[in-house]
Amino acid sequence: MRPVPHKLSGTGAPGVAMPRLDTLPEIHQACWQQLAACVRDKSHGWRVLGLATVDGDTADLRSVVVREVDDRARTLMFFTDARSPKVVQIAVQPQARMLAWSGALSWQLRLRVRLDVQTSGLAVSSRWARLRLSPAAQDYLSPLPPGAPLGGPMPPPLPDRDSRNHFAVVLAQVQAMDWLELHADGHRRALFGADGAGQWVTP
Ligand SMILES: Cc1cc2nc3c(=O)[nH]c(=O)nc-3n(C[C@H](O)[C@H](O)[C@H](O)COP(=O)(O)O)c2cc1C
Repeated sequence: MRPVPHKLSGTGAPGVAMPRLDTLPEIHQACWQQLAACVRDKSHGWRVLGLATVDGDTADLRSVVVREVDDRARTLMFFTDARSPKVVQIAVQPQARMLAWSGALSWQLRLRVRLDVQTSGLAVSSRWARLRLSPAAQDYLSPLPPGAPLGGPMPPPLPDRDSRNHFAVVLAQVQAMDWLELHADGHRRALFGADGAGQWVTP
């Protein structure tokens, strides 16, 4: 199968024309190629995904950055603060949805996922070892949990690197994909199951 180029990263600008993919297996493979590409390419439209979870009797939604993709295991990974409200929501209901849009590709991807939050173990410690000396480490060192009210008018001083960290990894097992392509010659939409089998549906 052909590798799919990622047209003019994330800009949505008209430019290098990408050939339209004809078959469901090609499109499924291309979706995983683009997910892998967004980990390496900070300007890729799919790098920041919407993550929707269930919060009691309502929905919740936020942005997360795709950090790792394993196309064989059909998983995505993102990082989070173990104390964040989404972690509590996921413990109650691990079924979630992820949403991506790339203007460059004119592709929307909706993922049905099952989430697994890990706060200890090798998967966590190995990634924290790489992250802890980078500026991004501050995201997981705050003495206060995400969403906690701040007492004063100023943000508190930055914690030092030896403070206790609250780093967690979240693994999203992709159970189904809903791919939508917007195109002047006609929009197209396909659904893929966990086994990769696909079917065309009305956009
Ligand atoms: C561009 C962008 C990327 C973000 N990436 C992440 C991320 O990878 N992980 C994360 O936990 N929060 C990330 N956030 C912050 C979340 O969107 C959210 O504000 C925070 O995690 C608290 O969410 P919660 O209250 O639902 O737990 C990001 C926000 C933006 C704007």
